[in-house]
Amino acid sequence: MLTKEENEKLSRVGPGTPMGEMMRRYWHPIAASSQLSERGTRPVRLLCEDLVLYRDRSGAIGLVAQRCPHRRAGMIFGIPEQEGLRCAYHGWLWDATGRCLEQPFEQTEDPNSTFKDRVTIKAYPVEEYAGMIWAYLGPQPAPLIPHWDVFEMENVARDIGATVIPCNWLQCMENSLDPVHVEWLHQYFSDYVLERLGRPDLKRRAVRNGKRDESVLKHEKIGFTVFDHGITKRRVLVGSTEADADWAVGHPAVFPNYLRAINAFQIRVPIDDSHTWHVWYTYYHQGPGVTVDRNAPIPFYDVPAATLAADGQPEWPFLDNNSGQDMSMWYTQGDIADREEEHLGYSDKGVIIYRNLLKENMEKVARGEDPMNVFRDPAANEFIELPVEKGSYRFGDRSASTVSPRTGQASKYSPILREAVKIVYGEEKLNEPVHSFTETT
Ligand code: FES
Ligand SMILES: [Fe+2]
Repeated sequence: MLTKEENEKLSRVGPGTPMGEMMRRYWHPIAASSQLSERGTRPVRLLCEDLVLYRDRSGAIGLVAQRCPHRRAGMIFGIPEQEGLRCAYHGWLWDATGRCLEQPFEQTEDPNSTFKDRVTIKAYPVEEYAGMIWAYLGPQPAPLIPHWDVFEMENVARDIGATVIPCNWLQCMENSLDPVHVEWLHQYFSDYVLERLGRPDLKRRAVRNGKRDESVLKHEKIGFTVFDHGITKRRVLVGSTEADADWAVGHPAVFPNYLRAINAFQIRVPIDDSHTWHVWYTYYHQGPGVTVDRNAPIPFYDVPAATLAADGQPEWPFLDNNSGQDMSMWYTQGDIADREEEHLGYSDKGVIIYRNLLKENMEKVARGEDPMNVFRDPAANEFIELPVEKGSYRFGDRSASTVSPRTGQASKYSPILREAVKIVYGEEKLNEPVHSFTETT
């Protein structure tokens, strides 16, 4: 349980708030590169700030304030020029650093006018990396975008899915420190969803020691360790011993807002205090003899937000996969979860460790230090390996035994996986609940 003040301090990300200041020490992805592959503009809201992302005719990208400093018209109508973005209303031209390059009528009236040198538009640094466009809203000098293993891996296919979840980012992240929900939400509730979908025959059963176990996967013990880049998780499941691989490293929570899952990152980008841009960045190992060009465009796909139907009822077809189930729990906790009313138990140990880590790092920022996972040394940023549980999905050779169950994450909607499923199982399989696929891990 937190006080109202503690809850606000941990969750709110606007300018000047303690968490907002901490979050401004990181680069955040704001779009997939393929969402702005040609000249044009895109609205972006990040950390409660309204901005316009653009690509100019030279191919360079920029990120400026939502409104033009002249008479406040929307820069979303901006015209990309060879360099910079020109406001549609009176033609003032802005470069990516926020400088005004032209004020046509002012210069007509007075060719020697210096007015343009005295107005600027708010602009933030942007970079393209790993198929995404990243923004940095913090103080200079900007750190490096971390080269996590997921982004740097060679010879893998990738795709990027995303959705806007109508709740605060912290709810999504706390879920990543909560292993116990897996046995309930992703198994017991999941089976109930299959009943509601009229397919009780597909109920999920855990595979243990090579045998089908009719009982669900059940936790006996959970453990968490803070490491250099976040928090690792371990667990003992019923029927195993600590000597078993089960008491091993699971998906780590990467500080402050990533989950490193098998073959993927889940990135929870705070749009504002009550909306999160949730990204599924997935890589797929290839079969023998298949090579993937590292610079090939990475496909982007929309994931439905799995919100309730207009009549307030669950939409069952959204709920047959882990991501639809997870996000339903997150947004029903409220815009910002009311942590004054929560009752934490042993199952929430990891949530408490994570909140403490957030507090320690907010304090570091307040003291003028860099928080965890701010990298400034290129030599230490070549390939940052994260500990992750064993297991890997291979899709390159597209054989039945290597196509995943699609229950995990948002892979139900992944174009790469849908194509593999079509080839292996046939097109009609895509219309069935995702539980109908063979479990491989
Ligand atoms: S409002 Fe943008 S140029 Fe006038
Ligand atoms: Fe989950």
